[in-house]
Amino acid sequence: MSDKPVIAVLVSGSGSNLQAIIDAAERGEIPCRVGIVVSNKADAYGLVRAKKHGIPTEAVSHKDYPTREEFDARLVEILRKSGAELICLAGFMRVLTPVFVRAFPNRILNIHPALLPSFPGTHGPKQALEYGVRFSGCTVHFLDEGVDTGPIVVQGVVPVYDDDTEDTLAARILVQEHKIYPMAIRLFFQGRLRIEGRRVFADGLPRIPEFFHRNPDA
Ligand code: GRF
Repeated sequence: MSDKPVIAVLVSGSGSNLQAIIDAAERGEIPCRVGIVVSNKADAYGLVRAKKHGIPTEAVSHKDYPTREEFDARLVEILRKSGAELICLAGFMRVLTPVFVRAFPNRILNIHPALLPSFPGTHGPKQALEYGVRFSGCTVHFLDEGVDTGPIVVQGVVPVYDDDTEDTLAARILVQEHKIYPMAIRLFFQGRLRIEGRRVFADGLPRIPEFFHRNPDA
C-alpha cells in the first residue's frame, strides 16, 4: 500500500467526478490516493467505479438514521477510521450538519455546477438557463455550515448557448468539473491553499492571463 495521504470521496450517483479524481491519482497528477468511497445510496454507480479500482466502499443509507445528526455522526466515524486527510463531496446529495462540518475543519471540499454564489442548491444548470446568464461554470469550495456558501477554491467558466438545454449545459459544465476538482485537490496537498475569511489564496501560482470573452460575439 502506498504511503500517500488518503482522501475520502462521498457520492450519491454516477460518480464521474470520482472517476476523474481516481484517474488523476492513478496518473500521479495528485499526491494522494482515494482510500474510501462512501455513498448514501447502495446503488450509486460511483460505488461500482470505486470497486473497479479496488477502492474500499461503504454504503450508509440516511434512511436508517432518525436524524441528520445521527447519520452525519456515522459518516464521521467511518471517515475518521479511514484516516482520510481530505474529504471530497462529489455529487453527494445530502446537506451535512455541523456535526460533520466541524469534525473536519477546512478539510472538506465540494463541487457545485454553477459559478457560486449564483445558483446554489440542486439545479445549477437549470437555473442558469432560466435566468439567462451568458456564462456559467463550476465551483470547488470548502464546505462551511451553509449550503454551497463556503470559501471558493477554483472556478471554471463555460459559455451558455442559445440552443442549450439543461442537459447540454450540464454536460459542458461537467467537463470542466473533471478538470478543476483534481486541480483543487492538488493545490490542497501542495499546501498552497490559505483561507482568510471568505477568501482562499492559492500561494505561489502565477496569475492567469487577463481575458475578454463575450457571448454572443458579433
Ligand atoms: C455534478 O454536477 C456536481 O457538480 C454536482 O452533482 C453532479 C455529480 O456528478 N454536485 P457525478 O456524480 O460526479 O457524475
